[in-house]
Amino acid sequence: MKEKRKISILGSTGSIGTQALEVLDKLHDKFEIIALSAGRNTELLKKQAEKYKPKYVCIGKDAQKPDIKGCKILYGSEGLHQICSDKDNDIILVAVSGKVGLEPTLTAIDNGINIALANKETLVMAGDIVMKRAKDKGVEIIPVDSEHCAIHQCIKNRDYVSKLIITASGGPFLHKTLDDMKSATIEQALAHPRWNMGRKITIDSATLMNKGLEIIEAHHLFNMDYKDIEVVIHPQSIVHSAIEYKDGSVIAQLGVPSMHIPIQYAISYPERFEGIKSQSFSFVQAARLDFEKPDDKKFPTLKLAYNAGIQGGSATVCLNAANEEAVFAFLDKKIRLYDIYTTTEKMLNLHNTVKNPSIDEIFEIDNEVRIKTRELLKV
Ligand SMILES: NC(=O)c1ccc[n+]([C@@H]2O[C@H](COP(=O)([O-])OP(=O)(O)OC[C@H]3O[C@@H](n4cnc5c(N)ncnc54)[C@H](OP(=O)(O)O)[C@@H]3O)[C@@H](O)[C@H]2O)c1
Repeated sequence: MKEKRKISILGSTGSIGTQALEVLDKLHDKFEIIALSAGRNTELLKKQAEKYKPKYVCIGKDAQKPDIKGCKILYGSEGLHQICSDKDNDIILVAVSGKVGLEPTLTAIDNGINIALANKETLVMAGDIVMKRAKDKGVEIIPVDSEHCAIHQCIKNRDYVSKLIITASGGPFLHKTLDDMKSATIEQALAHPRWNMGRKITIDSATLMNKGLEIIEAHHLFNMDYKDIEVVIHPQSIVHSAIEYKDGSVIAQLGVPSMHIPIQYAISYPERFEGIKSQSFSFVQAARLDFEKPDDKKFPTLKLAYNAGIQGGSATVCLNAANEEAVFAFLDKKIRLYDIYTTTEKMLNLHNTVKNPSIDEIFEIDNEVRIKTRELLKV
């Protein structure tokens, strides 16, 4: 019998993390869980540890201490560092949200451990450094984001690819007016028509900033110029993304909208298992596939992300930090949905871009931008 693949899940209590465990429930003969980690949800982490019996669990420093028997309990960023330094891991699923994903990803790369990457902030903040280090170490970064996972599946030879076509569902405001968007409540913004995700990414999907972050992610993952990355609205979320080859041939990846599939692909790559598959895809059932151009007036965040990406260096660190602080302020009922865009734009205009920031500089800039954004918003 083939040896089991050893996996750790950072962010096992989140939307991606819990779905990853559902995938692993179907593939328990193929995977062994080395570590699980949570930020604050001690109760769920305890339940998961009792069920999956990992070697380690890790919980945020400020969270309630878990009472878990039979495994080592680690804390905070040092704990994540210890997990990602354990060469027993074959693959680490980075499914934490926010900037906390960057350091453990680098540690895993330095230790030659392959990454299934859900945490898009890692590449938005430090894509140049992360991709170079992965290349130098011969580490594979397999994207979990459904669009990038789709492109990963479509690309056979990167040298012949002329364009990436990234699809976007359009979120809850696709067919609403700009005024509807401006006066949107948190509940309306969180009511995503297709995907059930964490709150931050759901708000980013409503403003289309999520797509903006994905353009930057795609630029780094596939070494593609921004001018060759196109976004198209596709409300059914059946075509997860596509690539165009130099000869005009287009290859797309399709499937029902479920994060289980890209998660399973990323952790199993290059193998494929039946695992989570519950139904066969039917074109007849899908029936209609619509596509349209994104409305720049309603979703100016896209252009903002393109511009920050083209500028490069620390501009994308600023974009990410200012947007995230503004999203938190919106979720805290301190600002309106549209202010997320105006705030991020203001912060980018104020930002002096550093060309090739080091990791330490990236964290410093991230911190500064967050402080200044909160000052601007008076929160
Ligand atoms: N959800 C999706 O469908 C989807 C799709 C594509 C990409 N992504 C990306 O995947 C990442 C995770 O998204 P999500 O929707 O799963 O988020 P989520 O539901 O909010 O889960 C986030 C996870 O990270 C943990 N966490 C948060 N802050 C932490 C900290 N400071 N230290 C340690 N752990 C921390 C949380 O722990 P606690 O809950 O215990 O506090 C939770 O386990 C994001 O980068 C997102 O952009 C998500």
